[in-house]
Amino acid sequence: MSDAVFRRILITGGAGFIGSHFVRLALAAGIPSVVVLDKLTYAGSLLNLEEVLDDPRVRFLEGDIADPAAVAEAMAGCDAVVNFAAETHVDRSLLEPAAFIRTNVWGTMVLLEQALRLGVGRFLHVSTDEVYGEVLSGSVSEDEPLRPRNPYAASKAAAEHFVFAYWTSYGLPVLVTRGCNTYGPYQHPEKFIPLAITNLLTGRPIPLYGDGLHERDWLYVEDHCRAIWTVLVRGEPGQAYNIGAGQHRPNIAVARALVRLLGADPSAIVHVADRPGHDRRYAVDWSRLRALGWRPMVDFEDGLARTVAWYRARTDWWSARRDAAFAAYYARNYQGREGYRNQP
Ligand code: NAD
Ligand code: TYD
Repeated sequence: MSDAVFRRILITGGAGFIGSHFVRLALAAGIPSVVVLDKLTYAGSLLNLEEVLDDPRVRFLEGDIADPAAVAEAMAGCDAVVNFAAETHVDRSLLEPAAFIRTNVWGTMVLLEQALRLGVGRFLHVSTDEVYGEVLSGSVSEDEPLRPRNPYAASKAAAEHFVFAYWTSYGLPVLVTRGCNTYGPYQHPEKFIPLAITNLLTGRPIPLYGDGLHERDWLYVEDHCRAIWTVLVRGEPGQAYNIGAGQHRPNIAVARALVRLLGADPSAIVHVADRPGHDRRYAVDWSRLRALGWRPMVDFEDGLARTVAWYRARTDWWSARRDAAFAAYYARNYQGREGYRNQP
């Protein structure tokens, strides 16, 4: 990964969890110019880019992907675009779906329009395995129909339809990745694994939705970024690529592993009311991506230990933003939802 295959990449949502890791990867790959466009919502932070903001190759622009003027400025001179920017939390989408349509669908459309106008050579849209809906058995290939079941997944699926429409209608060279559940350093503590870790570190319980037997495939963030890089460099325009990890676990197993790693008492796992429309299982077949030479390198136990070590060391990163986001969000939206009454 040392060839500077692009002169300038636009990375939207580069101040978020996966996007910030991808910025570091692009720089390590020798890309001479990296532009980051990020609205810095509650989910984004310049702290996520602390190691690279002073790098002369990095230009950070605070702005909205749904704003054509901001996008025109950010995309100028770029030969590749990677779109991470999104509203990403399923629970929030159940309560505020409009924000998801605005950023995830309309914002993607604004990016596509500008990419077409400027003749961008590679447009990679970061999507999710949640677009398939729940996969009760086996695994799905990229040719399966999209059957999203919650507003977040529906907004990601709608965005994908526009991305592929720009390929078939206008020939924009698009690529789509559909990654599975991702975890690692710098993930906002509203998501399950960092929520569980930071709760245990502050003496709070892990709220486990329903029976805890919902199954996810867990991908370490650096593996996810290498997969996106592989598709960006070697993928075939007009194609979608699933990204899986082969590390399927029911949520209760993840919770138990974290209790063990943090030396907590098993009673710290508390069953709470289930999420409405909670997808039981996701599972993708990623042989198309394997054929491009990618495979995951970090197994779940190793990745989880690395993640716990990072959260232990970086209270400075998570404690204020966790408290602020949780106070505003849970007070407003989760009143009366069993199991959330004890959240700060
Ligand atoms: P995140 O919530 O941590 O980061 C999202 C970033 O986008 C933030 O920096 C935020 O400020 C920015 N943003 C939000 N709205 C914006 C707007 N209108 N304009 C510009 N910037 C905006 O998300 P993440 O977990 O890093 O996910 C990144 C992408 O990967 C998303 O598209 C998500 O759907 C996809 N994905 C995530 C996972 C996962 O498990 N985290 C799995 C598969 C796919
Ligand atoms: P999440 O991190 O929100 O990702 P997604 O919904 O996109 O898969 O949740 C991962 C799993 O953990 C999902 O099955 C919901 C469950 N979950 C809990 O049991 N408790 C929680 O507090 C959260 C946030 C999630």
